[in-house]
Amino acid sequence: MNVLVTGGTGYIGSHTCLQMLEMGYTPVLLDNFSNSKASVLDRIEEVSGTRPVLITGDILDKNLLVETMKRYGISAVIHFAGLKSVGESVSEPLKYYSNNVSGTLCLVEAMSECNIKTLIFSSSATVYGDPSTVPINEGFPTSATNPYGRSKLMVEECLNDFYKANPDWSITLLRYFNPVGAHPSGKLGEDPNGIPNNLMPFISQVAVGKRECLNVFGGDYPTPDGTGVRDYIHVMDLARGHIAALNKVGHSKGIHIYNLGTGRGSSVLEMIEAFEKASNKKVAYKMVDRRPGDVAECWADPQKAQKELGWYAQLEVEQMAIDTWRWQSNNPNGYHD
Ligand code: NAD
Ligand code: UFG
Repeated sequence: MNVLVTGGTGYIGSHTCLQMLEMGYTPVLLDNFSNSKASVLDRIEEVSGTRPVLITGDILDKNLLVETMKRYGISAVIHFAGLKSVGESVSEPLKYYSNNVSGTLCLVEAMSECNIKTLIFSSSATVYGDPSTVPINEGFPTSATNPYGRSKLMVEECLNDFYKANPDWSITLLRYFNPVGAHPSGKLGEDPNGIPNNLMPFISQVAVGKRECLNVFGGDYPTPDGTGVRDYIHVMDLARGHIAALNKVGHSKGIHIYNLGTGRGSSVLEMIEAFEKASNKKVAYKMVDRRPGDVAECWADPQKAQKELGWYAQLEVEQMAIDTWRWQSNNPNGYHD
């Protein structure tokens, strides 16, 4: 089965492609490299022995999408392509609405033209806004606290409306919690541009000596140790979640929504501790004020995915830290090496 993977050279996309190859799927990657490097392909080939087809281009280019879908006999699309920096989305909201929302609409139009009716979309736990309780299940109310989150929510809403008018489609919305970790080979991982916004890449850059000190955003949350609590999920588990969705619901008509999380929360201090253990390095940190827009705690109720997809996250925080460290220490400059 040939599957178009938009954003396939990105962090989650590249790990998912590897697992698709392992499972006998043929991923066809499409990426504009706005946040990834072409050398990711070499790494995928090194690990899997296969070099997938890569189309360099933009999801806003409908002609290219249609041509690619026809040329490669695509029967389903996994749609990772998107911009994901919350801070940048606040300063450049139109960029986010254009890329994430218009880009998805363009993709769906191209799929319609090519009669492809299976779509898996990368959504985010950010669509739960500031949840009133945890764990969060798929029935919780949705809202957005920034333009990035709003772009994800808008896409979800557009796809819901689209599905109502096109009930012969299979549309799956996967709401990821906090993806971290790297491929166990140490050859693929997360390679953020500039100063990392997210906790794990920042911690690992402190451990490898690229940054001096981690700012812990808030030590006064109503959580057991006062720092923010999140549901960190290993990117390999997340990748498997896409295969499970493709296998289980990729062929059943409907709009399918799943949380992909572990169901367990870890605090910032617990993540530092796990990382220090994995790397045998001290991670210097200091407590600073809360980061505006952050919630105290956020973790998933992952039972729906377990019941319906037969999928659950298997890897613990310790493994996430070990694999992140292996990637970071083998590739201190990411894919630039
Ligand atoms: P990433 O930036 O590593 O990957 C996204 C890929 O899409 C990049 O390779 C980028 O070059 C590409 N891309 C962006 N705009 C494009 C366009 N217009 N045309 C073609 N390619 C384009 O990010 P990721 O962490 O792998 O995230 C993948 C998806 O999952 C994104 O949609 C993101 O919003 C979503 N998500 C990520 C997280 C997270 O914390 N990593 C959490 C929830 C949801
Ligand atoms: N944190 C720090 N210092 C840092 C970075 C983060 O203390 O330098 C803390 C945050 O305050 C938070 C926790 O670490 O308590 C996790 O922060 P991240 O930025 O790694 O992740 P978020 O939960 O804030 O957001 C992530 C993605 C969003 C996505 C959301 C839900 O960045 O895009 O998960 O899926 F929407």
